[in-house]
Amino acid sequence: MEHQTQHWVKVAELSEVPEGKSKAVQMEEGRSIALFNVDGRIYATDNQCPHMGYPLTRGTVRNGILTCDWHRRSFDLEGGGCFHVECDDLRTFPVDVRGSEIWIEPGDLTYRRGEEHKQLLREGLLSEDRWTMSKAISLLLKGGVPEEEVMGTILEHVSRHIASSHGAEGGSDVSRLINGLRVGRRYTDADRLIAVTTSACSAAGPASERLEVVPLPEPVTWEKISQWVRNFSYEGQSGRIERCLFTAYHKGDAEKLRPLLFECAVEPHFIDLSHIPLYVSYLSEVIDEFGWERASELVFYLGAQLIGHRPEEPERYRRDAIQLMRQILPTLESADLEQTDEFDEDAFVEALTSVNLQRSFEAVQTVLTDGIKLERLITTLVLLAADRMAHTPVNVDAGWENLTTELNLAASLRSAQQVGGNKVAAKGIFHVAWQIFADRWINIPSRPLSQSLSKEKLDVANEAEGIKHIVDAIETLNVQEVGTRVLGYLNAGYCPERLIEQIGHTALWDDTGNQVLPTLRTVFEEWKRAEGHPAQPQLLVGLARYVTDIRSNTDNKSAATTAMRFAEGRTTIEVFEE
Ligand code: FES
Repeated sequence: MEHQTQHWVKVAELSEVPEGKSKAVQMEEGRSIALFNVDGRIYATDNQCPHMGYPLTRGTVRNGILTCDWHRRSFDLEGGGCFHVECDDLRTFPVDVRGSEIWIEPGDLTYRRGEEHKQLLREGLLSEDRWTMSKAISLLLKGGVPEEEVMGTILEHVSRHIASSHGAEGGSDVSRLINGLRVGRRYTDADRLIAVTTSACSAAGPASERLEVVPLPEPVTWEKISQWVRNFSYEGQSGRIERCLFTAYHKGDAEKLRPLLFECAVEPHFIDLSHIPLYVSYLSEVIDEFGWERASELVFYLGAQLIGHRPEEPERYRRDAIQLMRQILPTLESADLEQTDEFDEDAFVEALTSVNLQRSFEAVQTVLTDGIKLERLITTLVLLAADRMAHTPVNVDAGWENLTTELNLAASLRSAQQVGGNKVAAKGIFHVAWQIFADRWINIPSRPLSQSLSKEKLDVANEAEGIKHIVDAIETLNVQEVGTRVLGYLNAGYCPERLIEQIGHTALWDDTGNQVLPTLRTVFEEWKRAEGHPAQPQLLVGLARYVTDIRSNTDNKSAATTAMRFAEGRTTIEVFEE
């Protein structure tokens, strides 16, 4: 253990580092320092190899060059310079031998390498190297760089990456980015790193420069632009939309753009393309998180790809749905939306799950013209989706992708309402209704949401044991049991938030973590909103069944944990020995 005076610290007795040998010294704050005795002279460096954290005391020194034993990166032992590209320099420390004692000056440990590590993150994103990304993110977070700034660096990459190599499907990258950020905030330490890294990894890949978009020459007005965007959207002309959006932004009409994107995304011809309104809502959140200046390139490009998507010729049911929705919409024009919370929810749910498109859409028309508050209707749709997740048969194909789309699309209508207004959210409800109709192949038995659930309590001694029991079911892929255990846990009065966190933790450490992010985030946010509703527990039951059934039973723990420890200054060997 070191002894300290002023800025110098006694780290060892000279006799502990014989000539030709090295020694690792643990500093108080946990970092490991390497001492080398070369021809009677003592050198001190970080013991952690800047590449991947291997202990440098296990390396070799020849001609003043220290070579790491793992991937053979080599460094100037005295100055720390690295002789390889894509590897940081090694930190070295002044040494003073005072009689029989070795003293070093560890210096100022204040973090000043933010820019360097952002560059490392960019390199990791480009080369799709998970370790490099994990390492850079954990160093940045550990160094106190705000998470928003780290995510901002990822966003810059995502924007370029999507714009240079993706079409509308780039929305799934944005989904992981925004949901990773929102979920990450619910956690600390390695869990937070996993969520952030997962979103970074899924957005990694090549990113080339694009031609600069310039505004349309004057005279152009917002009225003209918004009409053109609507027309191009209807005609599926994404290429022409981007410049219109850019021009409106340039003319100071940025805030009118988001409602316009939402408005176009919920038009009837996008029925059966639920990813369009869903991704538009994630794009809108990107603006909330990062501001227009940082987000504009992505929003204009991807927004144009989404609302300018040209749907294929509709098959029979979709054609009927588009026609029906077009017939109904004018009747809503004069409707007094947002009047009351009171309605026959069970009858509404029964119609939505009746496998009869006409009944389903007419039920939506009725609740809207009756003035049922949109927030209330959205809660019903969210809980219906959760209830279907809690009941879906898992023997063959449980339809998780479809069911989670129902859930996340329904929840996204909250931001559609907030940003786009009541009419946009009202139209969005038809899209959810269609999704439920389109998912009729899953064959989920219909059930009133008011029906009470089993009251049986989980037979465990306490909350921690209850959680363990549920996690065991998830880890052993026991999808038949996990839902019952979750319900029993809630019936016993144990903390639901703690359980969501734990289910999320288990899912995030799995390779399926990136798939789970949007649904996990929805459950986190919707739980409180459903307070007092008899179907509230189904949010958690559905989530638990979902993460259990899609679980791949592998984990990505080592990259993130090792990166966390790396940021703390520990060597790889120490991490593995913990
Ligand atoms: S070269 Fe040292 S850890 Fe890779």
